[in-house]
Amino acid sequence: MILMNEFKAEPQEIREATLTAVARVLESGWYVLGKEVTDFEQQWAALCGVQHGVGVGNGMDAIEVALRALDIGPGDEVITTPMTAFASVLGIHRAGAKAVLADIDTHTGLMNMDSVKRCITPRTKAILLVHLYGQIRDMQAWVALCHEHKIELIEDCAQAHYARIDGKVAGSFGRAGAYSFYPTKNLGCVGDGGMMVTSDTALAERAARLRNYGQSVRYSHPELGLNSRLDEIQAAILKVRLAWMDEFTARRQAIARQYREGLVNHSKVTLLAAPQEDAAHVYHLFVLHCQDREAFLRHMTEHKVQALIHYPIPVHHQPPCLDIPRDPQGLRQSEAHAATCVSIPCHPQMSDTDVAAVLAAINAY
Ligand SMILES: Cc1ncc(COP(=O)(O)O)c(C=O)c1O
Repeated sequence: MILMNEFKAEPQEIREATLTAVARVLESGWYVLGKEVTDFEQQWAALCGVQHGVGVGNGMDAIEVALRALDIGPGDEVITTPMTAFASVLGIHRAGAKAVLADIDTHTGLMNMDSVKRCITPRTKAILLVHLYGQIRDMQAWVALCHEHKIELIEDCAQAHYARIDGKVAGSFGRAGAYSFYPTKNLGCVGDGGMMVTSDTALAERAARLRNYGQSVRYSHPELGLNSRLDEIQAAILKVRLAWMDEFTARRQAIARQYREGLVNHSKVTLLAAPQEDAAHVYHLFVLHCQDREAFLRHMTEHKVQALIHYPIPVHHQPPCLDIPRDPQGLRQSEAHAATCVSIPCHPQMSDTDVAAVLAAINAY
């Protein structure tokens, strides 16, 4: 079976370097918020082209911490998309703010700007722009929209590690970016991890307090925070894996190129739009549209190819979110996308033979 992820097939060198990194942390006797975390925060922030990184427990907490550090909470609205991991919306909810859902463009799966404009009210404080599947697009226009309406741009970069457009990296366009290092991500740890990135020093300082019970100096708590700290072992492992990220991303992009070139003109399976620049899509997921998806999924299983759906149920169809405010014109594109999208394997451990087998399976459908 060709799987969506194959961690066990990673190079032996990564495994060895990971074990060395873990041993180093054990030897140090310091396990939470130490040198490894600080090092990795600095490395990741530098790569993103921002001043600060604040390591947190996961990507959802990075969203919550960013919003809370910006004083966005009860009574405030944050516009985002129903076509995302549930965590995007839950992060807004956890900050105490109200998520408002804008529709998407089906040719990318990304938020539609006209729909976002229809969602803006006097209570809107931020847009949480989700760089879905690894794509960043139209960033100048999003920055300009937020500027015009005096609202914050926060980027959900959980799927878009080091995606670049106009010479800038995901997470550096808005006031803050929220990264996840969940194992399946383009840069993932061996457990949960996340980071808020920003060039705003006051925001970073507040976020660093919030992640640690709201503590300023030891045992002094000027505000109520949470416990969401990236730990030393995960940070040490992330430093190891960071050295491989470029190579792995390039492999994902090469596989995507082969898919784009190799898919025959198909009546039932269609591609999403190509990225605006090569670097602007890091292919966390390679997603297609497929009519008659159930039959397609059965066909792929028969051909020993795993395929998944990101995401089968848009957020506003989830039981706790049925009444969530939304674009007054509805969320029809999100619903259409949810009904037809399908993700096929696109990970760095795939061989050319695997890629050819996936293509052959699709083309035979
Ligand atoms: C778009 C998006 N946002 C947020 C998250 C949350 O990240 P985490 O699982 O690390 O909390 C994820 C991960 O699933 C995601 O894909």
